[in-house]
Amino acid sequence: MKRVTEIAPGIHYVGVNDRAKHRFEGLWPLPHGVSYNAYLIDDEKVALVDTVDAAFTERLLASIREVIGDRSVDYLVINHMEPDHSASIHAVRREYPNITIVGNTKTLQMVEGFYGLCGNAHGGESVGITVNTLVVSDGDTLSLGARTLGFHLIPMVHWPETMVTHCAKDKLLFSGDAFGAFGTLDGGVTDVQLDTGRDTSLFWDEMVRYYSNIVAKYGGPVQRAIEKLAPLLPLSMVCPTHGPVWTRDFPRVLDLYDRMSRYKPLEKGVVIAYGSMYGNTEQTAERVARELAARGVKRIAMHNLSSSHASFVLRDIFKYSALVIGSPTYNMGLFPEVRSLVDDLELRCIPSRVFGCFGGFTWAGAAVKRLGEFAERQGWEMAAPPVEVKQGYSPDKTSSCADLAEAIASAM
Ligand code: FEO
Repeated sequence: MKRVTEIAPGIHYVGVNDRAKHRFEGLWPLPHGVSYNAYLIDDEKVALVDTVDAAFTERLLASIREVIGDRSVDYLVINHMEPDHSASIHAVRREYPNITIVGNTKTLQMVEGFYGLCGNAHGGESVGITVNTLVVSDGDTLSLGARTLGFHLIPMVHWPETMVTHCAKDKLLFSGDAFGAFGTLDGGVTDVQLDTGRDTSLFWDEMVRYYSNIVAKYGGPVQRAIEKLAPLLPLSMVCPTHGPVWTRDFPRVLDLYDRMSRYKPLEKGVVIAYGSMYGNTEQTAERVARELAARGVKRIAMHNLSSSHASFVLRDIFKYSALVIGSPTYNMGLFPEVRSLVDDLELRCIPSRVFGCFGGFTWAGAAVKRLGEFAERQGWEMAAPPVEVKQGYSPDKTSSCADLAEAIASAM
């Protein structure tokens, strides 16, 4: 029984699942794991599209052998050089010394920069990783026999060398990180096999988390990429480097990407993200949440930043239309976890959100001032004056929390 999945005639999924890594890029938690997707096109010429993380090189090579036996791989197409996809280039070149490495100018500079020289695994003379390469430019094509691959550069989605590879015959796009999601491919590979038609499928939230954590700074380049790929539509299959292969659900994915890259909220709702040292700022957060609920707001995502990882908070900020941040004053500034979130948001250049804030202090207040400065730098208007609590939370703050909730609910 073959373990490699043929996702279309002659096109095989040779990627792997990673359920052991704790943090992607050393930063982002992986509660549902991650897949590193690679694809093998078995035509008159054989092409491998992208590789996998270094921990899984042998599995990639075994899958390739399972499909093509003793034949050689003629081309390695590199859509993206981040090492979760490029780290097996070295081993692939060793296994197939005559392989031609295909990439654009920036890709091949990175191949040299990351991987330098490599030895020939077959005992011959050393083969440099920069030998036998094919430089492609935007719009170039490469014939494999029955199929012709077309290369389209989509710089800064999310690295400068990123490109996609189109196969017109199959109406199929190898899209690199674009349209990718966290989450392993458990059994199935395509969206239909994985039943992503359910709104509760983990891949929708994990796509928003992947985008908001990793790609979000580059909304402009993503918009340009979407425009550039429009003439290739409709596509029957989109093969990203992470998460499901999209077939039936690609229109939904494209719409999601379009809205996220225009920084448009995906639905009405409020994120309340706060730090709290002894529970007084948290009580303000609870009061604001109750007042929002009393005004009919049903989707409220509460994040105590000492326990919620920023990755999930950013996901919800990209999903929902309003954000309320709360912070105690700490060293005459923001509570460190709140400061970190604020930095993350500034880096992602989100142009607008319905925004409010609250804060606390013991002897000298600074937190709400800092949050006001943050809103000003972002160009966000405050929906209502901040709620500020001196020392212990008291019920006399209820009316100002209600005013804040009223302003947020009205503006959503
Ligand atoms: Fe999946 Fe940008 O690497």
